[in-house]
Amino acid sequence: MLKKFLSLTLVLGLITAVSMGAAVQIKKGKTRPLTTKQLMSGLVKPQCGGLGEALKTAPTDDAGWAALATQAALLNEASYILMDDGRCPDADWAAAATALREGTAAVLTKIEAKDAAGAQEAFKGATASCAACHKAHKK
Ligand code: HEC
Repeated sequence: MLKKFLSLTLVLGLITAVSMGAAVQIKKGKTRPLTTKQLMSGLVKPQCGGLGEALKTAPTDDAGWAALATQAALLNEASYILMDDGRCPDADWAAAATALREGTAAVLTKIEAKDAAGAQEAFKGATASCAACHKAHKK
């Protein structure tokens, strides 16, 4: 009886520890200082907002296309950071990071082809990943 109680306590304790670990994990990786909040407000939001705004009108010169490519590539890089340093807590997170990676890679392909309408369409796909992860993990 006591043994049963002790093992139940142990299991509950483990579950609590694991779920608390995941709560910390989504806010920050294991060793690097960058918090998820900083990653979002300093890199993801400005690049995503800038890219969305810039895609409304097709660039008129190479510098304009290069600026779009920079924003899309930085967003793509953020998808790797999201998976690094033990930050990823579960499959929902991983799927959203992959969707961000593939979506922004598709945007980049369209930018390289100087296809503004295609890039805009691909951008919509990329931004679906924001909502997917936030729904699961942004409190
Ligand atoms: C794999 C998960 C994931 C993806 C993908 C993701 N986010 Fe986030 N985002 C989070 C989490 C978790 C938080 C909450 C962080 C916290 O407050 O600790 C957050 C918070 C934010 C915030 C609030 C930042 C603040 O200062 O409080 C913004 C803005 C944001 N995300 C924008 C975006 C945009 C735009 C995208 C898509 C291009 C995106 N996010 C994709 C996980 C994600």
